[in-house]
Amino acid sequence: MLQLKNISVSYGPIEAVTDASINVEQGQVVAIVGANGAGKTTLLKAIAGLMQPRSGEILFEGQAITASPAHRRVQYGIALSPEGRQVFPDQSIRDNLELGAYARRLTSAQLTDALEEQYRLFPRLRERQNQMSVTLSGGEQQMLAIARALMGAPRLLLLDEPSLGLAPLIIKEIFAIIRDLRSRGITILLVEQMANLALRLADRAYVLDSGRITMSGTGAELLAHPEIRKAYLGNAH
Ligand SMILES: Nc1ncnc2c1ncn2[C@@H]1O[C@H](COP(=O)(O)OP(=O)(O)O)[C@@H](O)[C@H]1O
Ligand SMILES: [Mg+2]
Repeated sequence: MLQLKNISVSYGPIEAVTDASINVEQGQVVAIVGANGAGKTTLLKAIAGLMQPRSGEILFEGQAITASPAHRRVQYGIALSPEGRQVFPDQSIRDNLELGAYARRLTSAQLTDALEEQYRLFPRLRERQNQMSVTLSGGEQQMLAIARALMGAPRLLLLDEPSLGLAPLIIKEIFAIIRDLRSRGITILLVEQMANLALRLADRAYVLDSGRITMSGTGAELLAHPEIRKAYLGNAH
């Protein structure tokens, strides 16, 4: 479904991702794990079209999208739930959700249906739909960020650190939602520092180390790998 071929991405003179190749198959959860600063967010930004790779190619469903602008990629079926949620704090939950559907140009009836679908998935957002987003807890903001991405009706959902800064119980809830989304046929590329959780869920996984893919395998293979355990699972509980 998604193929990155030898992607390199730089911030000016600083190369953040070097020669990365990744395959995501339809219906899978694919995890990218790696330390802080490894280049995970940069990689997702390149897939979403928020950064232009310096070299390499990105294919989505067989089509080159390397040069497509971000809004076009939303139309193709790729949506990003960004690191740190990035919800608009002084806008209502409903307004934030509507922004996620912007590129789809829905009729008002279709928009109502799309909102209803998210409120079914995230009942807490329904109750709070007219509240300013700043009033939400961290976990609720994460749900809003995921729901806003889903408003784009993605076939490929990019999730950047959904567990960041959340309490264990909420993290469990978020991961249950990710499982549920996979069972609904949404393909997921998941970036996480909580490597143990991500690898347990992932069909496939890649390790990103200083901008380079250093290892890949099934989630179970990487979970069992001594080097991975040592480097990323030291604090696993
Ligand atoms: N806006 C930026 N300008 C310059 N360098 C950046 C910027 N954002 C990230 N970087 C650098 O790129 C590298 C990868 O960052 P990032 O993709 O955010 O890593 P991760 O998400 O794995 O923590 C880091 O060395 C980081 O300092
Ligand atoms: Mg990041």
